[in-house]
Amino acid sequence: GNNSINAKLVLLGDMGAGKSSLVFRFVKGQFLEFQESTIGAAFFSQTLALNDATVKFEIWDTAGQERYHSLAPMYYRGAAAAIIVYDITSTESFERAKKWVQELQKQGNPNMVTALAGNKADLEDKRKVALEAKNCGAPVQEAHTYAEENGLFFKETSAKTATNVNEIFHEIAKRLPRA
Ligand code: GTP
Ligand code: MG
Repeated sequence: GNNSINAKLVLLGDMGAGKSSLVFRFVKGQFLEFQESTIGAAFFSQTLALNDATVKFEIWDTAGQERYHSLAPMYYRGAAAAIIVYDITSTESFERAKKWVQELQKQGNPNMVTALAGNKADLEDKRKVALEAKNCGAPVQEAHTYAEENGLFFKETSAKTATNVNEIFHEIAKRLPRA
């Protein structure tokens, strides 16, 4: 078929988690070592061709700083998809991501395709958020199970090395409802 789909996509997550860097990597194929913190939100668009459809993403890259939190509903309202981003080197950012998941579950569009991205996967030596549960000792925060339990599509990504960046957008595109 030749389905043409317009999809509003929002990125949410703690400041510094790498939302803008993921978008920049996806849209421009580049990475900035000193990406500036987003003010308010930034808009991008990018088209992705699948076998059965062409998906035009209208991307809202929101600001993670707490003082912008109240603006977020403007960007996730009516969104077909969301990527909630945390930084694998920051447990705080993972906790923040869980808060976003809860907020979307309460207030977001119930059919939203939601992805969880554990970004900065290139910084393995600084990892604080476990990928899989360890079979020993105290319970650790564990991203994969959390994502499964909450019906999220999950990938660890790196905007720096490009790992899984196109893949996460591609997977979202595949999961969008067809017209
Ligand atoms: P706000 O706009 O403040 O909400 O932050 P953000 O989530 O948009 O983060 P941003 O993309 O600005 O990235 C913050 C910092 O982390 C920048 O210095 C980036 O270069 C760096 N960064 C982003 N992604 C990665 C990554 O995958 N690996 C590494 N090593 N650094 C990254
Ligand atoms: Mg940003």
